[in-house]
Amino acid sequence: MAESLNGLKRTCLCGELTAEYLNKEVVVFGFTAKIRNMGGLIFIDLRDRTGIIQLVADNNTPIEILDKAASVKNEYVLAAKGILRKRQGAVNTKISTGEFEILINDLRILSEAETTPFVIDEKAAVLEPLRLKYRYLELRRPELQKNLIVRDKITKTARDYLSENGFLEIETPFLGKSTPEGARDYLVPSRVHPGSFYALPQSPQLYKQLLMIAGFDRYYQVARCFRDEDLRANRQPEFTQIDMEMSYVEKESDVMEVMEGLVCAIFEKTIAKKLPRPFRTITYKEAMEKYGSDKPDTRFGMEIQDVSDIVANSEFSIFSGAVKNGGSVRLINANGFQNRLSRKEIDALSDIVKTFKAKGLAWMSFFGDEIKGTVVKNLSKDEIDAIKARSMAQSGDILFFVADKNSVVFNSLGALRLHLAEKAGLIDNSKFDILWVTDFPLLEFSEEENRFVAVHHPFTMPKQEDIALLDTNPEAVRAAAYDLVINGQEAGGGSIRIHDRELQAKMFNLLGFTDEDIEAKFGFFVNAFKYGAPPHGGLAFGLDRLVMLLTGTESIKDVIAFPKVQNASCLMSDAPSQVDIKQLNDLHILIDKSEKNG
Ligand code: AMO
Ligand code: AMP
Repeated sequence: MAESLNGLKRTCLCGELTAEYLNKEVVVFGFTAKIRNMGGLIFIDLRDRTGIIQLVADNNTPIEILDKAASVKNEYVLAAKGILRKRQGAVNTKISTGEFEILINDLRILSEAETTPFVIDEKAAVLEPLRLKYRYLELRRPELQKNLIVRDKITKTARDYLSENGFLEIETPFLGKSTPEGARDYLVPSRVHPGSFYALPQSPQLYKQLLMIAGFDRYYQVARCFRDEDLRANRQPEFTQIDMEMSYVEKESDVMEVMEGLVCAIFEKTIAKKLPRPFRTITYKEAMEKYGSDKPDTRFGMEIQDVSDIVANSEFSIFSGAVKNGGSVRLINANGFQNRLSRKEIDALSDIVKTFKAKGLAWMSFFGDEIKGTVVKNLSKDEIDAIKARSMAQSGDILFFVADKNSVVFNSLGALRLHLAEKAGLIDNSKFDILWVTDFPLLEFSEEENRFVAVHHPFTMPKQEDIALLDTNPEAVRAAAYDLVINGQEAGGGSIRIHDRELQAKMFNLLGFTDEDIEAKFGFFVNAFKYGAPPHGGLAFGLDRLVMLLTGTESIKDVIAFPKVQNASCLMSDAPSQVDIKQLNDLHILIDKSEKNG
């Protein structure tokens, strides 16, 4: 039978019992993590979100309390009163309160618990679907509690910092109009307007710009965003941004400086790490050319090198052909990999680059005077010598080449570089590698849609010095946009916005929107710029990703209380689920289960 607290008040959290409380009476509440019953001597590990304290009942404990302690099972919710004392047995160095125990004189069973479907502390043995079905039990695990506590610290620090810097927290609608962020929208049908839909925000982008037009000067929001896209280890369909926007900024650095201050505050307050400022900046072009990625991991070298000039006229037509077609031939030098990789493993590497559309992976290795590899027979001695000199290849090194159009070369060698570094253990996980990537292209041509699409979003300002190129060579125009990259992950991104109506109209034209499209999609937004718009810019951090980086967590699910799985469902609540026919009728919705939609 469950007992009530009956006026009992907590004096301390379990993990926070220190010498200060020695020989004093304390009251603690929590869950039963472990029981050891040795006849007249019973030990209970009591767990709350701060840690564990050992309760003891012995022969001096009132008999009814000793009996009650004997009836406790794992995960029972208890209130205990007693005197804190030095442990009589061995000190437990694994927990912060390991020197102490509470000799109890009162115990209340506030709630009994059935045997849980898995033991709370044993992650490895339990498969993810079961853990997620009983997420509220999994969340009792100290590691997950720690992640959510860090998450809270980060948001608190962000709120404090932004507030101190004149930013106002303002909420924007969930039920809104679709904003063109590039992913698929989650739609919400309207009951009142049959056939019409709200879109859940992919980000508050348009609203925050309108708040600048409304004169709020500096805005922020811990904003939930919804994107119906394929999920990965660092992507969820609903995720959270620390989103901000500020007026009267001109250059990228105006926003970047304020945001650096925020990142530094977050690192300092949550993990006591002081980051050197200013953060390093690298251009998109350099990031692609050296690391094959717009979110480069620069904790290790193995940079990509261009050898197009050396092989431009080579008899090896795969190489010279790529150069003649406007592409390139580039390589990475896998230092010392010669005796690390078997032929079979080398072949497997070409499967990696093929997933990035490369047609093959050529290689050449050096050992003493011996040169081996798929392309040795195809290249002249001069070409090989020049490549060896350029790549500074030494005995024991292997060079891997991809010849193709630049985007394929970068993506495939970028992925290969990461793969090899992980394989060789070149990445120091204790390091934080933080950099800004700037000067992104404004537009890229989408073969699929046969038109230009915005790399960031359509409201991003072109770099001032490139504006003239919009008419002549739009693809060469760089954006006043920036991403913050931490350990090879995109932790945040933003830009200076267009605040001039004519420039915005030109941008929409380039993106292939007709006047009707513009009016229908963002008429309300474009109109607002008629009535005075301060120059403005902003940025959004991915909060979930920041928590992952600061806690060293591999999966985004481990930093979200109730996450979704790969197919965007929630295994605990079974969302999404079918609804009553009456609800569908109210919404004027008929479900078509035929093949074409299945
Ligand atoms: P962007 O689309 O780059 O910019 O998003 C900002 C940051 O949000 C994080 N992020 C995600 N995190 C988890 N799951 C996802 N599915 C996901 N998608 C994005 C990333 C990313 O850097 N409105 C603009 C910002 C601006 O211009 O101010 C925007 O949304 O860390
Ligand atoms: P082949 O002469 O066709 O046997 O090709 C020689 C080597 O070049 C093989 O190892 C191929 O995998 C490799 N190769 C083929 N296409 C490319 C490419 N586009 N880039 C780099 N290597 C390639």
